[in-house]
Amino acid sequence: MEHAVDVLPTTDESAATASAGPPTTRVTLDVNGSEHPLDIDNRMSLLDALREKLALTGSKKGCDHGQCGACTVLIDGRRANSCLTLAVSAEGSAITTVEGLADDEGLHPVQQAFLDRDAYQCGYCTPGQICSAIGMLREARAGWPSHATHDVALDGVVLDDDEVRERMSGNLCRCGAYVNIVPAVLDAAEGSAMRDAADSHAAHAPDVPDASVTRGTTAPDTTAATR
Ligand code: FES
Ligand code: FES
Repeated sequence: MEHAVDVLPTTDESAATASAGPPTTRVTLDVNGSEHPLDIDNRMSLLDALREKLALTGSKKGCDHGQCGACTVLIDGRRANSCLTLAVSAEGSAITTVEGLADDEGLHPVQQAFLDRDAYQCGYCTPGQICSAIGMLREARAGWPSHATHDVALDGVVLDDDEVRERMSGNLCRCGAYVNIVPAVLDAAEGSAMRDAADSHAAHAPDVPDASVTRGTTAPDTTAATR
C-alpha cells in the first residue's frame, strides 16, 4: 500500500502536467491548395483540425466514428473519413475539402449534378457525399471492382444503380435523399467535363479510362456490362 502511494504524482507534478497541456506537434497542412502551419494536439482528428483550426466547416461531424461518411474529404485524391485520420498524419498530403472543389469556372461537375438533381434535403451529409462521389468515380475509372461488380474480369467498370449504391454505401443520408443522389452521381460520371474537372482539382488523380454508365440495375449475367 505504501509503495502504491509512492508512484502517484505529487500535487506539484500534476499541476505541472496540467499547465503544460497535451502534447502538440508543429505541422503544415496542405488544404485546398494552401499551406497552413499549425500547432496541433497529437490526438486531434483531421476533421477537428479542419473545422476548429481552419474554420473549414463544410466537412461535417455526424458520428465521429467512421460510420456515416459526413466527414469525407479527399487525401491525395482518395476519399477518406477525416474523423478517423489523425491531423498530424496528413502532413505532406494534398487535402481537398468541399470548399476546395469549385473554381473560377464554377462548381465541380459533381456539385452541379447534385444541384441539378436536387440530391439533398437538409444538406448535412452533402459535402461528404460529394467528396465521396468524386473519389468513387475516380476508383471506378481506375477499374477498381466493388462488391456489386458482376464480372471483375471485364476491362472497365460499368456504373449502374447497384454499383453506385454499393460504392457510396459508406455515406449515410438521414433524409433518405438516395433516390436523387444515385442519378446525380451517374450524371456526373456521364458528363464529359467530369474527367477534366476532376483532374484539375486533384493533382494526384490517376490517369485512367472513363467508366461507362448504364441506368438502372445491371442483370447478373453481365450482358450489359461490356464497354
Ligand atoms: S463523422 Fe466521420 S464517418 Fe461519421
Ligand atoms: S440531405 Fe439530410 S442527411 Fe442527407
